[in-house]
Amino acid sequence: MKTIPFWMIAMAYLCCAIAAAHGSILTTSCLPFEEDYNFKEDKFDGTWYEVRRLRDPNASQYEDCVVMNYKLGEKGSFVIRESYQHGDEGEPIYRSGKAEPKVFQDARIPKFLERFNTTDPADPDTSIDIVATDYSSYAVVYSCTSINSTHHLESAWVLSRQSELAKNVVELVNLFLESRFTRPDHKWRATIHTADYCKPTVVEQLPVHGAGSSSVALSLPILLLGLLAVKLL
Ligand SMILES: *[C@@H]1O[C@H](CO)[C@@H](O)[C@H](O)[C@H]1NC(C)=O
Ligand SMILES: *[C@@H]1O[C@H](CO)[C@@H](O)[C@H](O)[C@H]1NC(C)=O
Ligand SMILES: *[C@@H]1O[C@H](CO)[C@@H](O)[C@H](O)[C@H]1NC(C)=O
Repeated sequence: MKTIPFWMIAMAYLCCAIAAAHGSILTTSCLPFEEDYNFKEDKFDGTWYEVRRLRDPNASQYEDCVVMNYKLGEKGSFVIRESYQHGDEGEPIYRSGKAEPKVFQDARIPKFLERFNTTDPADPDTSIDIVATDYSSYAVVYSCTSINSTHHLESAWVLSRQSELAKNVVELVNLFLESRFTRPDHKWRATIHTADYCKPTVVEQLPVHGAGSSSVALSLPILLLGLLAVKLL
């Protein structure tokens, strides 16, 4: 009878430990964000491109061409469709998920719990904070999820409405990142979005507005029709 060599078990363990980390860095404390603003869910929905990500020094593979569609669902939650690509030969990989609002009495910034259909059932929901956004061009998203009593997995992303950050916000975003992400292991990697590298993805074709905004768009012609009817009478 053959037994499984120890190195195979070790390799399997190593592979999965890295996969679980998934572009995160290990930290003993989360960053404090003192921002305070009224988050408007209906203005956050639509298409976002990930243009930068906190660099994971242990990553064996990078996710590029990352595009996501946030659709406003019930009670301030979002239904997420995302696609990304591994290398220029890769095909788009799709995943879908949900972000549920996490309500804390002292919360000043919008906090969500995110789960994708690719998330291991054994893994906790990912904590997601939208620490800065102007809705129309950029967003900075921070994640710090506890893995045990002493350690957290930390990630952060810069999202943009276009595949490249609008020129008038680049400096603002840089200043924000430099002043908040100050640890030596806080290094950013630009997510590749060039047309010759990225394959077309259906996520870009998805509707850009959730149920909330589209019902407003639909009701406008009805309202006009109503006004017309009143005039005719
Ligand atoms: C990454 O690798 C370094 C050394 O190669 C190690 O010290 C560190 O703990 C690793 N980090 C994670 C998150 O696995
Ligand atoms: C996750 O969802 C995406 C998009 O809906 C789908 O294409 C993919 O096959 C799903 N993956 C898994 C592991 O269920
Ligand atoms: C928590 O997890 C980290 C990383 O896997 C590990 O280094 C640390 O020893 C763990 N701490 C406890 C208390 O289990």
